[in-house]
Amino acid sequence: MIIFKSINTLNKEVNFKANIGFVPTMGALHKGHISLIKSSKKICKKTLVSIFINPSQFNKANDFKNYPKNLKKDIAILKKLKVDYLLAPKVKEIYRNKKNSKIKLKKKDKVMCALYRPGHFEGVLAVINQFLIKIKPKHIFFGEKDYQQLLLIKKFVKNKFKITIHNCPTIRGKGNIALSSRNVLLSNTDIKKSAYIANLILNFKRNMKRDILFKKHLKNIIYKINNIKKIKIEYLEIRNKINLSKNYNRNNFKIFIAYYNNKVRLIDNY
Ligand code: PAF
Repeated sequence: MIIFKSINTLNKEVNFKANIGFVPTMGALHKGHISLIKSSKKICKKTLVSIFINPSQFNKANDFKNYPKNLKKDIAILKKLKVDYLLAPKVKEIYRNKKNSKIKLKKKDKVMCALYRPGHFEGVLAVINQFLIKIKPKHIFFGEKDYQQLLLIKKFVKNKFKITIHNCPTIRGKGNIALSSRNVLLSNTDIKKSAYIANLILNFKRNMKRDILFKKHLKNIIYKINNIKKIKIEYLEIRNKINLSKNYNRNNFKIFIAYYNNKVRLIDNY
């Protein structure tokens, strides 16, 4: 694996006319990332992974400071997977100009995480924009765990870049917990609580699939979850999975949650 600390050097050494798959990450790699990398390796001739903890997508300084980092372990994982290229650029190379660090969202897109984490997706879109302006991969891979991110990126990229977006299903670990880099910040007790929440919602979803009117019990689920010690829901909403509107039926809904588990903010969708 060739490690690049700068996009300039990457561009000099790598021929982007070839069929290159790009997996952007913020590191602290887990099986979710590994599944994205494996998809890229299946479809593309060469795979490029980036590790860049993008400061402009953090709306709280402490969250940025505490975000898990483990470059050595990440490099070992990538080498084992036989990834071709790793890009780990510096902030000043990505954002030469401060105005490049945010891309505005439309008012109608400001729901769920876009509402509760102001500036977050503006920073995500900005970093993807900078990457795709500076490098020209043919394919890019995102996990459905960050479902709202995936939809916003799809919309943003559509008419701007010639690239195919691939989405890969959420990978769940023990107790149906969605894998996330943030899970390393959880204790065993916290993990048990997250597993309880995941199964509660999965069960609720099964009931809604049987009878959509079961949705009226959502408030009981919210009550149950908020009653768990040191758990606080930010939002728990049922939405249309195509456009995130509240207009859905039993075949096109998804349930979205963001909550704090002992101060660690987690998201999931089912
Ligand atoms: O999903 C993530 O890890 C990040 O939001 C991404 C897409 C790498 C942009 O920084």
